[in-house]
Amino acid sequence: MSLLLALELLLSLLALPRLSSTSNSTHPSLDRQAEALLQWKSSLSSWSFDFLDSWTNRSSPCNWSGVACSNAMPPGSGRGHPALVVWEIWLPDCGLVGRLDRLHFADLPHLVYLNLGHNSLSGPIPSSIGAVADLTHLDLSNNGLNGSIPTSLGNCTKLRTLALASNQITGLLPPEIGYCRSLLSLLASDNLLTGQIPQELGYLSNLNELDLSRNSLSGTIPVILYKLNYLFRVNLSYNSLGGKVPSFTGSWIDLDHNKDLCDDSYGLTPCDTPNIDMEHKSRKHSRMVLLAFFAPFSFACLSIASITVVCWRKKCVKSKSKRKSGDVLSIWNFDGKIAFEDILTATENFDEKYCIGVGGYGTVFRVELESGAVFAVKLLHSMEEFSAEETFHAEIEVLTKIRHRCIVKLYGFCSHSQCKFLVYDLIERGSLSSILHEQELAKELNWTNRITIVTDIAQALAYLHHDCDDPIVHRDIKSSNILLNLDYKAYVSDFGMARKLKHGCSSWSTIFAGTCGYIAPELSSTMVLTEKCDVYSFGVVALEVVMGKHPGDLLLPFFCRTEQPGKFNDILDRRIAAPSTIHEEKDAILVALVAFACLQVNPKSRPTMQQVYQALTNRNRPAFMPRPLHEISLQDLHDYCGTIKNI
Ligand SMILES: *[C@@H]1O[C@H](CO)[C@@H](O)[C@H](O)[C@H]1NC(C)=O
Ligand SMILES: *[C@@H]1O[C@H](CO)[C@@H](O)[C@H](O)[C@H]1NC(C)=O
Ligand SMILES: *[C@@H]1O[C@H](CO)[C@@H](O)[C@H](O)[C@H]1NC(C)=O
Ligand SMILES: *[C@@H]1O[C@H](CO)[C@@H](O)[C@H](O)[C@H]1NC(C)=O
Ligand SMILES: *[C@@H]1O[C@H](CO)[C@@H](O)[C@H](O)[C@H]1NC(C)=O
Ligand SMILES: *[C@@H]1O[C@H](CO)[C@@H](O)[C@H](O)[C@H]1NC(C)=O
Repeated sequence: MSLLLALELLLSLLALPRLSSTSNSTHPSLDRQAEALLQWKSSLSSWSFDFLDSWTNRSSPCNWSGVACSNAMPPGSGRGHPALVVWEIWLPDCGLVGRLDRLHFADLPHLVYLNLGHNSLSGPIPSSIGAVADLTHLDLSNNGLNGSIPTSLGNCTKLRTLALASNQITGLLPPEIGYCRSLLSLLASDNLLTGQIPQELGYLSNLNELDLSRNSLSGTIPVILYKLNYLFRVNLSYNSLGGKVPSFTGSWIDLDHNKDLCDDSYGLTPCDTPNIDMEHKSRKHSRMVLLAFFAPFSFACLSIASITVVCWRKKCVKSKSKRKSGDVLSIWNFDGKIAFEDILTATENFDEKYCIGVGGYGTVFRVELESGAVFAVKLLHSMEEFSAEETFHAEIEVLTKIRHRCIVKLYGFCSHSQCKFLVYDLIERGSLSSILHEQELAKELNWTNRITIVTDIAQALAYLHHDCDDPIVHRDIKSSNILLNLDYKAYVSDFGMARKLKHGCSSWSTIFAGTCGYIAPELSSTMVLTEKCDVYSFGVVALEVVMGKHPGDLLLPFFCRTEQPGKFNDILDRRIAAPSTIHEEKDAILVALVAFACLQVNPKSRPTMQQVYQALTNRNRPAFMPRPLHEISLQDLHDYCGTIKNI
């Protein structure tokens, strides 16, 4: 019976009309957009601290805290001058109290990122949200929103993240969600959703994550979800679902605490009687007869389809040597799709000559498509081992959720049993470690560049540790995981070892992760993982940037609590001129002080990444050591590094 359902959906797929999201009204002026935001601000009853103080009609909204602008072309023809528009509102956890429906979305049609999570917003999600056609990230989780999910959300066809968890949203999950074809994460746990899970979720072919746990959903789980090849996490626990469970592709499936789900796998009771789907019972008798008539035919069709899938999967292994037509394995990026086949062609089936690096668990290739688009692709080593599978998922999980200017962007991935790879933004200069190793390249890294690199890494880590819902620990910070672009901006990469920590807690690390020479001492002795492990590794990298090589023996006095002999001057990278201006001197001393603070053996004495970042960016800071650089000894750095925390 469930096979029939799938067929039915396939047929209805063909019949569904397409929504068009074109609109030809001229877009509101920046003033109008500012006014909409100011009106909303005046409707709020409170917010924390002085966060919204910059929101006044005296300055442009582009300068307000939590708001960012971008240039957009006028709608329609694409002619005319680009104009500044508000494209990001990022106010998570800002103590906002008030109603969301007072925010007039029709006046903010160019929003791309909207994050109002972890506030105290109430009222319904206004249906004008459908006017924001370019929205890719909508996070309204952890508020007090009620009412139902507006069907107009189906207009937001570029939506990639929809986070509505922990509100009091009622009603059905609207089938229109099926129009949001780019959706990667659909997170609506802990609400009051009722009714069935719509079949239309079957259209979300890129979906990675589906969390509808802790609602009151009933009926069966749509069989069609088995077709979602990238769905690696499904949580439907704590609902009233019943019936047979489709065979999901992913490995993290939680179906606990439901009414009567059955299956031979997932630890559920087997479905012994032929299961008649509840939703089907309620349908018209005539339809049943019709379906019964077509049953033999449809069974044949679907068998062929599933055999094709199996054969194709087998071929995936061989496809390294033999090209396969069709783009079943397609991956997403910002402007459409890159086909699996394109990547094979561009790299001549992953030929060595395109290899630009070998990482812990994968080989990185440079891919240049015919269109001129350039990417980095990491092809994973043998996926036989469980740990490789885990690192793959960890990386996807972390990188699809976070977004930061100093963290490498993930464009997509291919996940099949035998060939798995990840597609990233290509960062042109390669790793910090390779640059420091090359005499000529290292010479180009002047002091200003070096300070900026350390600051960029600090900013990325501060973001991971303090600005994500749950802190993320990278666990493998080292110079070969820091990439530099043509402007020497640093990007943190390789999140295969990354772990989420529950707020404020440490975690027992089950597998030993990290790289020798960068691992915090407490991790190897106690296996207790906290953010401070990254802080230590960051300290090693910061010192490496100052010295031009791994600090090596210089780390010993920290462990042995002996005197730190030598002068600061003597450890500076000799390949570039010594800091010449007073600013360069101050900055070099600051980076060394920060590094020493981070390398302290007691994790509690180390500063947090937020403190580090503040110390590095506070332009009005006092001089830490009012002494010329050549007079400073390493022991001085040791003795003074505690002051970093008080910035
Ligand atoms: C939309 O564009 C058409 C032609 O391009 C024009 O005739 C019509 O008036 C426009 N509608 C609005 C609401 O601007
Ligand atoms: C700015 O807002 C204040 C009150 O909120 C108003 O009195 C003033 O006229 C506004 N100024 C401009 C230039 O719109
Ligand atoms: C935004 O702030 C910058 C510097 O703080 C200033 O130069 C610029 O004029 C401001 N822009 C507007 C539109 O207020
Ligand atoms: C939703 O919340 C608002 C504000 O808390 C309240 O006034 C309204 O009655 C609620 N609506 C429903 C349908 O519960
Ligand atoms: C959604 O798109 C449809 C079709 O283009 C349009 O009629 C409708 O007004 C849109 N909804 C919103 C809220 O903009
Ligand atoms: C699924 O969701 C429930 C409740 O929201 C949570 O307790 C559980 O840990 C989740 N399971 C997984 C595997 O994430």
